[in-house]
Amino acid sequence: MAELITALDVQTRAEAVEKIKTIGESVGFYKIGLELFIAEGPDVVKAVKDLGKKVFLDLKLHDIPRTVERAVRSAGKLGVDLATIHACGGAAMIRAAADAAAEFGERAPKILGVTVLTSLDENDLRDIGISGRTAAEQVQAMGRLALANGAAGIVCSPREVKIMRNILGVDALLVTPGVRPAGADVGDQKRVATPADAVRDGSTHLVVGRPILAASDPAAAAVAIRAEMDGAV
Ligand code: C5P
Repeated sequence: MAELITALDVQTRAEAVEKIKTIGESVGFYKIGLELFIAEGPDVVKAVKDLGKKVFLDLKLHDIPRTVERAVRSAGKLGVDLATIHACGGAAMIRAAADAAAEFGERAPKILGVTVLTSLDENDLRDIGISGRTAAEQVQAMGRLALANGAAGIVCSPREVKIMRNILGVDALLVTPGVRPAGADVGDQKRVATPADAVRDGSTHLVVGRPILAASDPAAAAVAIRAEMDGAV
């Protein structure tokens, strides 16, 4: 069954804890990104874990293999469940992250590769030296590289899920932001899908931020999204 992850896009640990308590039982998994982690540090991960929730630490690591290996080891000690790295950091870096995670055995964080940032178009890719490939081809190449070197899955747009499922096989985790219930405000997301479509196409984890956090009743919004996901299978 696909998991619902709420993006904790808030600035303080107090706000994060309050949001989690307000949202309640229907969300068991939270994404902590750079904003909150830089503001509050590892304590915010502990606070979320103490509430009995799983943590997706979305810091998009990209550095030399040794540094990434040590960062993943630190994340493993915090008990995070999912963590992101940039697949374009290369095979050795991805392998270093996967091996460091594996040291934690059953509690190992699962490593997700970020393929191509959705903010980049083909002109941006050319500027950074990636030419002769479309953005979609680069996503596929980075996805293959990530999985071939021990990553458990990738982060991708719900519009890419079907093709990435075919390319990466049945076991790959496909974690998709850009999810909007029908009729919801899309905000700055351009390529959205509904929770039901994302699940049907093969997403294993749906990351939903504003449709829950900014709802007048966040608990009800989460319950409705969960129900839509469950109804899709
Ligand atoms: O509020 P919203 O549902 O758009 O939040 C989605 C979350 O997923 C945010 O934390 C956003 O930074 C993240 N994300 C995304 N698109 C990507 C990668 C990450 O929306 N391509």
